[in-house]
Amino acid sequence: MANSAEQIVARRNHVLRSFVALVANGRTQDPIQILEVGSMIGESAIVWHQGLRDHAAGRGRITCVDPWAAYEGKAGVGQQLDNDQNRHLASGEAFADFQRNITDAGAAASIDIRRGFSDDILPTLPHGGFDIVYIDGDHSYAQVREDLAHAAPLVRDGGLLCGDDLEVLFAECNQALCLKWAELGAEYVRDPATGLGYHPGVTLAVFRHFGDVSRWGLTWAMQRRGDRWVKVTLAA
Ligand SMILES: C[S@@+](CC[C@H](N)C(=O)[O-])C[C@H]1O[C@@H](n2cnc3c(N)ncnc32)[C@H](O)[C@@H]1O
Repeated sequence: MANSAEQIVARRNHVLRSFVALVANGRTQDPIQILEVGSMIGESAIVWHQGLRDHAAGRGRITCVDPWAAYEGKAGVGQQLDNDQNRHLASGEAFADFQRNITDAGAAASIDIRRGFSDDILPTLPHGGFDIVYIDGDHSYAQVREDLAHAAPLVRDGGLLCGDDLEVLFAECNQALCLKWAELGAEYVRDPATGLGYHPGVTLAVFRHFGDVSRWGLTWAMQRRGDRWVKVTLAA
C-alpha cells in the first residue's frame, strides 16, 4: 500500500531529527549549525529546531535560504512550482506564513533568515561552517547541481550534506528518460521502470555528484570524512 503524504512527512521529519542527533553526539560546546536551502512555510525549519531542542539542548542555529518570491526571470525555478505554490510565494503570503509558523513554534530565535536565491547566498557562507546542509530548493537538474557544488564546501568534517525528494535512484530508473527529462528541466514525472513519480533533476544531480547515497524514504544524505564522502548509518 502506498504511503500517505502524512506518513512520508512524518518519516522525513524523524530522519531530519536523527541527523541532528548524529552530529550532536559527543558535542558539548560548539553550537550546531544547520543550513537549509528552500524553506517555504517553515515546516522543515521547525523540525530542525525540534532536533536541536531534543538532541543538543537547543544549542544551535538554522540558516534558512529562500527568495520567498516569484520566480519570473529566474530560469528553472518555475519548473519546480505549481501555480498555486508560485502565487503563494509571489504574493508574499508564503513568507508571512513562514514567519508566523516559526514564531508560533518558538523557533524564531534560533533561525537566521537569508532571503535570496541559493546561487547568490551560498557563495557568501563560510567553508566548513555547517554541521548539516539540507537541499530542498529548486528541484530542476541545473539548480540541484549548482546547489550541491556550492553546498559541499560548506560542510565541516564529519558533517552531513542531505536533501529531500530523491524518490528514485539513478540505478533504479529508466536512465535514458531520466537524462532526457533532466536536460529538459522537467520537474516531476513518472518513471516507467519503477512506476513511481519522481524528480529526475534530483535523481541525476545527486547521482552525478556522489554516485550511490544513503536514503531513507525520500531523504538522502552523505557524510564528509576529510576529502571523501561516505554513506551514513543512523541509530535505529
Ligand atoms: C519544496 S519547498 C521547501 C519546503 C521546505 N524545505 C519544507 O519541507 O518545509 C521549495 C522552496 O524552495 C525555494 N526555492 C526555489 N528556488 C530556490 C533557490 N534557487 N534558492 C533557494 N530557495 C529556492 C522556493 O521559494 C520554495 O519555498
